[in-house]
Amino acid sequence: MAYTGSLTQTALWQDLQHHFQATRDTHIREWFAEDPNRFHNFHVEAAGITLDYSKNRVNQDTMKLLFQLARERQLPEKLSAMFAGDAINRSENRPALHTALRNFSDREILVDGTDIMPEIRDTVHRMEEFCWKIRRNQWRGYTNRPFTDVVSIGIGGSFLGPKLASSALKPYWDSRLSIHYLANIDGSHITEILKRLDPATTLFIIQSKSFSTQETLKNANACREWFLDNGGTENELCKHFTAVSSNIEKATAFGISEENIFPMWDWVGGRYSLWSAIGLPLALAIGIDNFRELLRGAFEMDEHCRTAPLEENMPVTMALLGLWYVNFYGVNSHAILPYDHYLRSLPAYLQQLDMESNGKRVSIDGNVLDYNTGPIIWGGVGTNGQHAFHQLLHQGTHFSPCDFIMPMTSHNPIDNFHAMLVSNCLSQSQALLQGKSEEQAIAELMESGMSKAEAIVLAPQKIIPGNRPSNTLYFPKATPKSIGALIALYEHKVAAQGMLWGINSFDQWGVELGKQLGDKVLKAIESPEPSEGFDGSTNGLIQAFHRMQGML
Ligand code: F6P
Repeated sequence: MAYTGSLTQTALWQDLQHHFQATRDTHIREWFAEDPNRFHNFHVEAAGITLDYSKNRVNQDTMKLLFQLARERQLPEKLSAMFAGDAINRSENRPALHTALRNFSDREILVDGTDIMPEIRDTVHRMEEFCWKIRRNQWRGYTNRPFTDVVSIGIGGSFLGPKLASSALKPYWDSRLSIHYLANIDGSHITEILKRLDPATTLFIIQSKSFSTQETLKNANACREWFLDNGGTENELCKHFTAVSSNIEKATAFGISEENIFPMWDWVGGRYSLWSAIGLPLALAIGIDNFRELLRGAFEMDEHCRTAPLEENMPVTMALLGLWYVNFYGVNSHAILPYDHYLRSLPAYLQQLDMESNGKRVSIDGNVLDYNTGPIIWGGVGTNGQHAFHQLLHQGTHFSPCDFIMPMTSHNPIDNFHAMLVSNCLSQSQALLQGKSEEQAIAELMESGMSKAEAIVLAPQKIIPGNRPSNTLYFPKATPKSIGALIALYEHKVAAQGMLWGINSFDQWGVELGKQLGDKVLKAIESPEPSEGFDGSTNGLIQAFHRMQGML
């Protein structure tokens, strides 16, 4: 299958350009006025989630052209190739088979001619036994006391997914276990975590596909030392340290016994690995049954993405809308605005998922692109954002499309908190759409007692252009199943977007350079000799470090 070919040199792209010119000045308000069924006509449902995309700068013609683009770019075929296990991650010659990890069908999934489903099922079974033993106090610490704390040590994809799902599903946690995530290489973070813990009742899970990530190894070694310095012995390490890795050799060399190492596979990318044993800390927190429900929610979204016609396909619709703004409106960011305390880690999670996947400047064939790809993902939990960055969303010179995300019922239905939260969410997307005209601004100011002349002078400060697009995603409640579906929705949106742009969403070569340079800089920083061979700024900063550490 041809992966790329020109995106922007086709007749269809020209049609989209003309359509953009013809509609760019239309206010979404006009489209709502023209079409009383716009909410109904611009929404899709999948796996218990509803997407209302009626507040976008699109009409039926826009969507027709965009779906045609998806066909022309062979999106259905490319998605099928992903689900089937083709080596779509070309630069690493690997499939991207995170969907196999939640395949509840009896379909075989072949990698190099071997069905990988038995190994996946076996791993879930091992996870189940492990969770069972820890949660039922059958596996205890070296003083025979039950575990009270689990420290998950990992970074990037070996951290953000379990962290997101753990906080999203806090109401499902077993209250006898606390889960801590240690990712950053920062003495302050590890100190703050370990100072509250007792080595005798702490279990560590080292989460690293490669078992060679600098931050993870440093943190893991420091935890090991802390354990040995505070009562544990070498012989008891195996009771307290487990790992999830595809590098068995390095994990056993660290001191972890082979039966306590859970597998990872080449065909799962780090940022897509929540569904594998990387989800172990989450499974310990919420229990294996809830973990399976998370997988099931993701599976439902997979089935939707795999089988729904493009026009009803939620991830595809979101991917096309994103492309519309990036490539026609010249937008370079996208805001994620969850209206749920438990979903506060979603923007950080999606930053990695989207930006590490689609932050690419060449096509999958290696050609430098002449169009933009993945936007900057940012955001924060409502209503806090309303009192901070929403000002820019409403009146800034840039516009950033927004995803409002909202469970309709709360796990904590106190007073009318949830009605207030939801009404804030709805009024923000409404304000972005409606804006405030000059006439409205003047009338408002005059009502507050100003003369017309004064009101006219002040009005420009108060005008809000509106016409700022947003999606609203809603579902009944933040349950394991709905969170699984929500995460899978974004995975597929990102993958579909990458396929439309003709890039490889499954590699991440850009992060390697920093890692390589990091080793050289560390050597220079630790040596008292004046540093040489770097650029002037880096030399100057190394010297400042030496000076302030008293090394000079
Ligand atoms: O930051 C780059 C990256 O390779 C991520 O893609 C990955 O999730 C993370 O590092 C951690 O890698 P590992 O699981 O091998 O420690």
